[in-house]
Amino acid sequence: IPTTIYPDSEEASVAVARDIATLIRNRAAEGRMCVLGLATGSTPTRMYEELVRLHQEEGLSFQNVISFNLDEYYPMQPNSLQSYVRFMHEYLFDHIDIRPENVHIPDGTVRQEEVAEFCRHYEEQIRAAGGIDIQILGIGRTGHIGFNEPGSGAASRTRLITLDHITRTDAASDFYGEENVPRRAITMGVGTILEAHSIVLLAWGEGKAAVVKRMVEGEMTDSVPATYLQKHPEVSVILDDAAAAELT
Ligand code: F6R
Repeated sequence: IPTTIYPDSEEASVAVARDIATLIRNRAAEGRMCVLGLATGSTPTRMYEELVRLHQEEGLSFQNVISFNLDEYYPMQPNSLQSYVRFMHEYLFDHIDIRPENVHIPDGTVRQEEVAEFCRHYEEQIRAAGGIDIQILGIGRTGHIGFNEPGSGAASRTRLITLDHITRTDAASDFYGEENVPRRAITMGVGTILEAHSIVLLAWGEGKAAVVKRMVEGEMTDSVPATYLQKHPEVSVILDDAAAAELT
């Protein structure tokens, strides 16, 4: 997997935001839409801040952007403090000119018997938009991308998944205690993610160094779903020094 190491996450985040901006502008110049696959969590926040700055100070428009988020807790009300809907509005959508109808985030309020149909429809919407041009990913300590926890195969599709214990531990502070973290989530599948035309995975800090090593240098396996990125033709891994520390 092609890997780029920056001295710090600040510089890396700005560089990735600029690449995204270039893609959006090139598409706009051709009169075409640009489809972004987006992630939440602590990793991409500085990148979103830079995209907002590019909009506010350098005239970057998101009028030609369609977005699909990777995942959402289940169940989850969109107005909850911890919802990914609220996260995306706070960090990005409330500050840019994306059309509300072009924003897609898995719906944590769908009734359980309708989740499978919701997931099929989500994938249909991605296809109808022409597929994802660039998918932004973080990585969990379990090796998850999206919320594809260990056990998720390369062909997995958008679905309801049970969160790993480690993932719920990592989310505990956001929910004021692990017992409040939802046990499940709706996530794009590994197969869904691999259909993106290009993929950029970001990872910062020493806490990610071990899983980054397994993703980049380990065997492809369901036990570390991020290893399936190794078979994507256009993937890049963007790291800070600390996250790259265990690479050989
Ligand atoms: C979030 C997502 C997750 C996170 C991962 C890392 O939409 O899909 O895979 O990217 O859990 O989270 P942070 O960035 O908080 O370390």
